[in-house]
Amino acid sequence: MEAIFLKYSYDFRNYTGASQKRRVRYALEQLRLPNVSALQERVLHDPTVFAQLLQFLTIPVSEMFRDPGYFLTLRQQVVPVLQTYPSVKVWVAGCSTGEEAWSLAILLREEGLLERTQIYATDINPASLDKARQGIFPMEAVRNYTANYQRAGGRQAFSDYYTAAYDAARFDPSLCANAVFADHSLATDSVFAETQLVSCRNVLIYFNRALQDRALGLFYESLCHRGFLGLGAKESIDFSSFSTRFDTLARAERIYRKAS
Ligand SMILES: C[S@@+](CC[C@H](N)C(=O)[O-])C[C@H]1O[C@@H](n2cnc3c(N)ncnc32)[C@H](O)[C@@H]1O
Repeated sequence: MEAIFLKYSYDFRNYTGASQKRRVRYALEQLRLPNVSALQERVLHDPTVFAQLLQFLTIPVSEMFRDPGYFLTLRQQVVPVLQTYPSVKVWVAGCSTGEEAWSLAILLREEGLLERTQIYATDINPASLDKARQGIFPMEAVRNYTANYQRAGGRQAFSDYYTAAYDAARFDPSLCANAVFADHSLATDSVFAETQLVSCRNVLIYFNRALQDRALGLFYESLCHRGFLGLGAKESIDFSSFSTRFDTLARAERIYRKAS
């Protein structure tokens, strides 16, 4: 990981040992390499192998309206406050292939907020960001997304938002016309905008305590006075140095508000 950092500036040094080991083992199998030194040798001499390794290390897994209770709580408890602002900035950190950002765009449109919202969706994986920009998701997955959307308090027919072609669904490009999908690392980059809502789910679980604190520090700095932070069910700020700097808005969904 040290060598990757020096050569490619991707910093995986503070990711948790267990899950990272699992992913490196999986990469060895998929790339048919006998051991870590063979992998290191290939990765350092061939950027295309590094690009492949990045796919294994970053876990580009997502879903639209994943954990619908999270979106329902945003709709019921966060949106009414956002509606009081003349303009809104939302940062989706670790957006992967974009499902979370597109879901938020749908929710914001239904709540009359999309026109005055700028969404920043960021990730370190360029292949994921390319997919995220396209907004095309497999039809097979859309069946599950439809159920998620309904449970998230969706107000329309989910099919209103996409055009089906063969086995894919192309989401209405106007939903993300105002969104920026950009490369940003929570491990090495700094804050880039003042935001009213940061949503970062299923990312911090891969980080050790020091890196979690770094990321939470970026979110804290980015958020405006009384801004919202959504971490989703799997993560929390409880054991971080930020535990007293946020108030809990929704415990189960881990939605917090910057303390005054
Ligand atoms: C499991 S996905 C989560 C996707 C989405 N947030 C969700 O909950 O469905 C984790 C994402 O975190 C991204 N990631 C990993 N390390 C990161 C870092 N240092 N900075 C930003 N994103 C990172 C990965 O590339 C991956 O796309």
